[in-house]
Amino acid sequence: KPNPIRVLVTGAAGQIAYSLVFMIASGQMFGPYQPVVLHLLDIPKMQEVLNGVVMELNDGAFPLLAGTVATTDVKTAFMGIQVCLMVGAFPRGPGMQRSDLLKMNANIFKEQGAALAKYAARGVKVLVVGNPANTNAYIACLAAKADLPSTNFSALTRLDQNRAVSMIAERVGVPVAKVKNVSIWGNHSLTQVPDVTNAVIQDFPEKGLTTPVLTAVNDNKWLEESFIPQVQNRGAAVIAARKLSSAASAANAIVGHMRDWVLGTKDGETVSMAVVSDGSYNIPKGLVFSFPVQCRAGEWSIVQGLKITPFIQLKLDATTKELQSEIDALPK
Ligand code: NAI
Repeated sequence: KPNPIRVLVTGAAGQIAYSLVFMIASGQMFGPYQPVVLHLLDIPKMQEVLNGVVMELNDGAFPLLAGTVATTDVKTAFMGIQVCLMVGAFPRGPGMQRSDLLKMNANIFKEQGAALAKYAARGVKVLVVGNPANTNAYIACLAAKADLPSTNFSALTRLDQNRAVSMIAERVGVPVAKVKNVSIWGNHSLTQVPDVTNAVIQDFPEKGLTTPVLTAVNDNKWLEESFIPQVQNRGAAVIAARKLSSAASAANAIVGHMRDWVLGTKDGETVSMAVVSDGSYNIPKGLVFSFPVQCRAGEWSIVQGLKITPFIQLKLDATTKELQSEIDALPK
């Protein structure tokens, strides 16, 4: 049996974590043979809730769960971790300005970035979920810069990708598993860029054939004026319906993101991850930007040479500008 992987979930008393930790303990993130030790961090006033989560993890009697470390102490939480799922963040309250939110979260991610640098395994894979996810990842990466490579850091846009795939599958009338290589570019925000230029549908219109999504949908007006805004606004639609933000679907996306990073993507398939730009597609170096990537042997690489249409390019420019302005607004 392999040694357990130490996985930290921050915000472990929150909504997303309440789905996520059980998925991890049941083997969905690292496969059915890989034991895990779950590190759970939340803030002191959530200690009792955290204890309740541990009670339920124990009550799951998960064979792969080799231990839990539930704590409100940052050092204990980050010690020796190999995977870090940064879900915890300060929520935007009534009457709070976006700039206040940025400031509160900047402090959290600066502290936790420094803790990663000090206490985590050197190869730690970091996924930031708490919003604003891209900018929080940028801050954590910067705070750890002297000790950890920037390629260790990522932010979640997989939920946006899954939403887009589901909408395309429904529109064309095929199973979701047949829709491949839909991309999300840029910021996890309203300016995100869902892009089907390079996406295909397998076994369509019949078994053995592969058809571009653009051909299968055959309706640019729907793609540009309905599909894109619906993907961008899906989070708000879920909040309106559920009176709470997406949680189980977010947990599922976190599992998919980390599973692909660790275990690899399938040949010829791309997934979307927000990672530190190396200048690909003329995105300024250093921005945490969602790209189509492929993963092999625990490393991601940005897929090169994809066609960018003028329509998509305009949207890439807008999401880039937004990310830059988020960084400019950070407390110096
Ligand atoms: P939640 O409010 O239910 O849980 C957040 C938890 O984080 C709370 O228990 C809170 O006490 C904890 N927390 C706050 N500050 C902390 C700190 N310094 N250290 C450790 N824990 C801390 O929120 P939920 O629904 O679980 O969402 C979490 C975050 O994920 C939110 O920021 C949300 O906007 C974001 N999100 C991002 C998505 C994405 O696709 N990138 C999708 C859905 C949500």
